[in-house]
Amino acid sequence: MKATIAVDGPAAAGKGTLSKALARYFGFAHLDTGLLYRAVGAGVLAGGEALDIARTLAPEALENPDLRTQAVAEAASQAAVDPAVREALVAFQRGFARREGGAVLDGRDIGTVICPDAEVKLFVTASAETRAERRYLELVAAGQAADRAAILDEVRARDERDASRATAPLRAASDAVTIDTSDLTAEEAQAQAIAIVTRALA
Ligand code: CDP
Repeated sequence: MKATIAVDGPAAAGKGTLSKALARYFGFAHLDTGLLYRAVGAGVLAGGEALDIARTLAPEALENPDLRTQAVAEAASQAAVDPAVREALVAFQRGFARREGGAVLDGRDIGTVICPDAEVKLFVTASAETRAERRYLELVAAGQAADRAAILDEVRARDERDASRATAPLRAASDAVTIDTSDLTAEEAQAQAIAIVTRALA
């Protein structure tokens, strides 16, 4: 069994929580591809060169808890515009997607570019206000300083950059099923996603 579930969507839409729940439910492995770009962004903030970092990225680099800050997210989004950086990260993602036992990958271009043949594609979204509020609560829970208005501005600016870049822009694949989580609890979103994936894999 080598099924791939592709989960795409804008910043803080709940892709991570949903993807982890799907992976647990179906017994698949999970890759948060945003962490690849965040690791590149963190390396750039530390004075490195984006393409060098992308080409030499070790899987252990994804476990660094410091990748979760807003500053790293912004640097990730800037590095993610470069087609050469994206290209350097393709093989790792495709290898993960086709592993034995099934895989869930979440990101921006999984259903469109990385895994256009994925068995199931979800596009997870929510209003910018809802997403900013969720990110605010996440950062506060993680003990980080957070400002609601600044987060909303940052989320909007990053979505705009991710959606308008020339290479692999954020958009739903034509065969993706959209889940708008604005008015759903995490459990409700998970139940919808599990039902969609169960149908698609049957
Ligand atoms: O957690 P959040 O949704 O805020 O962001 P993330 O998924 O960790 O992604 C951080 C940044 O990496 C995004 O704003 C994108 O610019 C970039 N990214 C990408 O270009 N392609 C992906 N497959 C995943 C992330």
